[in-house]
Amino acid sequence: MRKSVQNMKVVANLRLNDDHYLLQLNAPDQLENIYPGQFANIQVDQSQSVFLRRPFSIHTIDYQKNTISILIKEIGEGTRTLSHTPIDSYLSVIFPLGNGFTLPASKENVLLVGGGCGVAPLLHLAQVLNRDLNDVNILLGGRSEIDLVELDQYAKYGKIYTTTEDGSYGEKGFVTDHSIFSIELDQFTRIYCCGPEPMMKAVATKAKTKSVFCEVSLENTMACGFGVCLCCVTETIQGHKCVCTDGPVFNINQLKWQI
Ligand SMILES: Cc1cc2nc3c(=O)[nH]c(=O)nc-3n(C[C@H](O)[C@H](O)[C@H](O)COP(=O)(O)OP(=O)(O)OC[C@H]3O[C@@H](n4cnc5c(N)ncnc54)[C@H](O)[C@@H]3O)c2cc1C
Ligand code: FES
Repeated sequence: MRKSVQNMKVVANLRLNDDHYLLQLNAPDQLENIYPGQFANIQVDQSQSVFLRRPFSIHTIDYQKNTISILIKEIGEGTRTLSHTPIDSYLSVIFPLGNGFTLPASKENVLLVGGGCGVAPLLHLAQVLNRDLNDVNILLGGRSEIDLVELDQYAKYGKIYTTTEDGSYGEKGFVTDHSIFSIELDQFTRIYCCGPEPMMKAVATKAKTKSVFCEVSLENTMACGFGVCLCCVTETIQGHKCVCTDGPVFNINQLKWQI
């Protein structure tokens, strides 16, 4: 689908826990072919102090109802304002932006790893990988049980593994402490990862050790979202690249990360 600016109607706003909200947005124009990992840049109209749009992964798409959903974790004024958007109001949304994850050409055994609000792009990805008959394994981590949102939704598309830092659910520790990394990693032909940068670097290190294909979705701070302001650049082996247009998904071998 070509990117466009659309005034999308908020048709549902569900509070999932203390700081996570799920917004469902209805598009006036017919949705088509949005790839897992692409994102939307949303204007925060109701705030006096937030002038720049805020980027969010496209969490799910319903082509029949012509809606997308956005999973929002409140961390500042923009996310707080957007997460309290009333039903029936409209948001200005530029989407779909960026490049999505590279999908396998034939059936593979894949591992999706998500932490924090980085789990957001992985639901659409899991759905598409499952549709294409891949063996989908999904490892989700949080600080505590309450941070693990929508496990039932992810479970529709793959086998779920979990970690919590306080041990309240799943294995105790960070996602990279999960036993899957010590005993099963060789079984996977691809790892897809999104979350806080230290987490993605730790996953990338494990993937590199076992030479497993690995893509990460970066969440650099953005402004325009389409390659004009250059505020989102990351260093790659081919020089500086815009995360918004060249990413947000990158193969770990492209990135100049100290890992
Ligand atoms: C491609 C992409 C996809 C994203 N997808 C999602 C998503 O699906 N759900 C979601 O909840 N969030 C997502 N984010 C992050 C989200 O855009 C930020 O949380 C949001 O812009 C913060 O706005 P704010 O006004 O609430 O916070 P601000 O007031 O702007 O910032 C609050 C604090 O958070 C820090 N901060 C702001 N943005 C980031 C960031 N990107 N990384 C690390 N620290 C940051 C600031 O430095 C500041 O300390 C995504 C970001 C990108 C680039
Ligand atoms: S956000 Fe403006 S160039 Fe990437």
